[in-house]
Amino acid sequence: MCGIVGYAGGQSALDVVVAGLKRLEYRGYDSAGVAVLSDGGLAAAKKAGKLVNLEKELVNRPLAGGSVGIGHTRWATHGGPTDVNAHPHLDNAGRVAVVHNGIIENFAALREELADRGHDLASETDTEVVAHLLAEEFSSAGDLAEAMRLVCRRLDGAFTLVAVHADQPDVVVGARRNSPLVVGVGEGENFLASDVSAFIAHTRSAIELGQDQVVELTRDGVTVTDFDGAPADVRAYHVDWDASAAEKGGYDYFMLKEIAEQPKAVADTLLGRIDGSGRLTLDEVRIPDAVLREADKVVIIACGTAFHAGLIAKYAIEHWTRIPCEVELASEFRYRDPILGQKTLVIAISQSGETMDTLMALRHAREQGAKVLAVCNTNGSTIPRESDAVLYTHAGPEVAVASTKAFLTQLVACYLLALYLGQVRGTKWGDEIHAVVRELARIGDEVERVLETMEPVRALARSLAHKDTVLFLGRHVGYPVALEGALKLKELAYMHAEGFAAGELKHGPIALIEEDLPVVVVVPSPKARSVLHDKIVSNIQEIRARGARTIVIAEEGDEAVVPYADHLIRIPATPTLLQPLVSTVPLQVFACELATARGNEVDQPRNLAKSVTVE
Ligand code: AGP
Repeated sequence: MCGIVGYAGGQSALDVVVAGLKRLEYRGYDSAGVAVLSDGGLAAAKKAGKLVNLEKELVNRPLAGGSVGIGHTRWATHGGPTDVNAHPHLDNAGRVAVVHNGIIENFAALREELADRGHDLASETDTEVVAHLLAEEFSSAGDLAEAMRLVCRRLDGAFTLVAVHADQPDVVVGARRNSPLVVGVGEGENFLASDVSAFIAHTRSAIELGQDQVVELTRDGVTVTDFDGAPADVRAYHVDWDASAAEKGGYDYFMLKEIAEQPKAVADTLLGRIDGSGRLTLDEVRIPDAVLREADKVVIIACGTAFHAGLIAKYAIEHWTRIPCEVELASEFRYRDPILGQKTLVIAISQSGETMDTLMALRHAREQGAKVLAVCNTNGSTIPRESDAVLYTHAGPEVAVASTKAFLTQLVACYLLALYLGQVRGTKWGDEIHAVVRELARIGDEVERVLETMEPVRALARSLAHKDTVLFLGRHVGYPVALEGALKLKELAYMHAEGFAAGELKHGPIALIEEDLPVVVVVPSPKARSVLHDKIVSNIQEIRARGARTIVIAEEGDEAVVPYADHLIRIPATPTLLQPLVSTVPLQVFACELATARGNEVDQPRNLAKSVTVE
């Protein structure tokens, strides 16, 4: 996610845009920049790091005043968080400036075309190609809105674009596809922004833009068309949130917003990873295929929720590549004198990219000669920087301490990595890879479906707020999901919660079962291995016979569990290995609602930090 602001009106564009970016900084803080039109020209400033760095730059090098401008606060996807990669991006003549949120999948081909036509592109970003394309189209169309329409028709992927051109000093033009952009309608001034929090201090009258639309803004008017130039229907509405609620998208907590963002986060993590011929192209993985082919062991190192993602990844890696895969708690890894060598591929999973336990573990692995690949959500953070390669998740900033969307995107990234290893090593045929990728492409919609049926889960959570223990059981890939569900409840509701492999129950934990003890059971797909399914149904009978209150998460159509489920939570049927992408979601909602019912602070639970940068 990134934060975007556009303004046309009577105030100082710089003041309005910078203040708007401050409200959007939760959307990304890798860099920030502004561009302002004045006196027939265009002036821009941009700096890596938080917005405060840009503000210092503007003090040292003030921009000429002007009442039309755009701004951007970045969450890096393509290209690290540097000054050069910061938005806005300009054409070579410095007459066009553009800011972008999203991923342009076909930017590499466009970049080549532009270079062939003599354009000099300075950054590593996908966005910069748009500045040069707009300059080209404007030179023939003579109109920025028309130029934007022509350019958008050439772009693949997800994008919100906002641009200005020095030859049209009263105009700001925006466009959106699969990424948010909203108009603020003021008196003699108008705004564009990623969300209403950027302009809510000036106006509460908003216009929601639809898919594939272009908006032309002046201080006195707003014109919206589709990408072909036909007038478009839009929805005007009144914003009744306050600024703080607006940052959370109207949700009470960032965690709720981030749970709701999971379908898009999954879809964004898949974007741009399959080339035109259908082959996986994980371009950030910079370990040569020959080295990946020779790997004789995979070791996953991570902490907390990321560790649970690693446990699930193990099933996929071993099943699809037949390489042995170990999963290690990073904090334990280097103290057990692990066996590593030149042919060991270590995968470090980390949302923040700053977890010290994981960083120290990867340093140890590299000292032992292993290759390290980071799966990370934070571009340019320490762990990817110190790894041999990185596969970024595209969940956007995860503000809530309890990890949700980052977890699902870590799974998607690990599935892609496992498939890539299978592709490189020839253990998966192209059609087999396509089949899994097609299923992954559907998962965002399946997660959406789960999110639409969560009211009974929230009611159940509230009814259990007085309990002091909940157990979680699972088998196969459902076992790490049980661990993750227990962790969510621990860190949010501050209650005893423990996850077990269901088969382990009879080796001790079943002694914990007592009357009305809530036990969540994650049931594998009946089509996974019927024996696995039969055994967990037996486990449910065993605990119910001893008084447990059974809360069963099972696929639609799985009737075998019905007689033994005191509460039945249905999830869509998915391929065996992908089930955690849907079975985890009810557990996130359950933990969040139970914590809320107990009056806990959900986004910043006690004793915790979003990134544990100490060992
Ligand atoms: C999960 O909800 C917690 N926030 C915590 O377990 C977290 O997953 C762990 O600290 C690892 O963080 P990282 O992914 O940033 O490395």
